[in-house]
Amino acid sequence: MSTAVGKLVVSRDMFITLEGVEGSGKSTQAELLKEFLQKQGLKVTLTREPGWGALGRLIRRLLLEEKELELHPLAELYLFCADRTQHVRDFVLPKLKEGGIVICDRFTDSTIAYQGYGRRLELDLVERVAREAALGLKPKLTILLNIPVKVGLSRLEKREGKTKMDEEPLEFHERVRQGYIFIAQKEPKRVKVVNATRDIYEIQQEIRNIVLSHISK
Ligand code: TMP
Repeated sequence: MSTAVGKLVVSRDMFITLEGVEGSGKSTQAELLKEFLQKQGLKVTLTREPGWGALGRLIRRLLLEEKELELHPLAELYLFCADRTQHVRDFVLPKLKEGGIVICDRFTDSTIAYQGYGRRLELDLVERVAREAALGLKPKLTILLNIPVKVGLSRLEKREGKTKMDEEPLEFHERVRQGYIFIAQKEPKRVKVVNATRDIYEIQQEIRNIVLSHISK
C-alpha cells in the first residue's frame, strides 16, 4: 500500500537506517535528512538505538556509560538486542503502521558490525539473535557512512561525553568498519555506501538523492 505525497509516492512501511563507525556523522545526517523530507510534506520520525523509552535509557547507560562494568560480549549482545525488541514493538512498528517514514540512527547492522566483527562473537549466532530481536523488521534502505576510523575518532576528540565503545582500541573499530563493508557487499541493493569524509552538505545531497530515488519507486 502506498501514500501519494505531491509527486512522491511513499511506501507505507518505509524504514531507513543510518550506519557507520564512531564519528561518521550519522546523527547530523539523519537530522538533516529528516528536515528535508518533512519539507517535502512527508511524515517522518527520527529515532535511534540504543536508548528508546524507559528500558532503552537504562540499557544505554549500562552499555555505554558504566565504565567500571565489564560486560561479557554475549551479555552486551543481548542487551543491545533487548533494547531493539522493545523499541521495534512499542515505537517503530506503530509509527510505520501510521504511514510515513521512520529513520533510525543504527539498527541490526550495528549489532553485526560491533558484536559480530568488533567483538568477534560467532557471526551466525549474532545474525540469528539480531534478526529475532528485530521482530522480522528489516530496513528497506540503509545508508552506510564510510569513513577511515582514525578520521572518525579524531572528530570525537572535540566532543564531550565519549562512550565506553569510543574508547575501544583502534583495531576494534577497524574490524567494525570492515564488518560494515562486508555487509554492504553482501546486500548492495539495500546498503548504499556513502563517502563520509566530504563536506556535510555534499554528503547530505548524495543521501537525499539515494533516498528520493528509493521512496519514489
Ligand atoms: P551512538 O549513539 O553514539 O551511535 O552510540 C551507540 C554505540 O553503541 C556505538 O558505539 C555503537 C554501539 N552499538 C553496538 O555496539 N551494537 C548495537 O547493536 C548498537 C545499536 C550500537
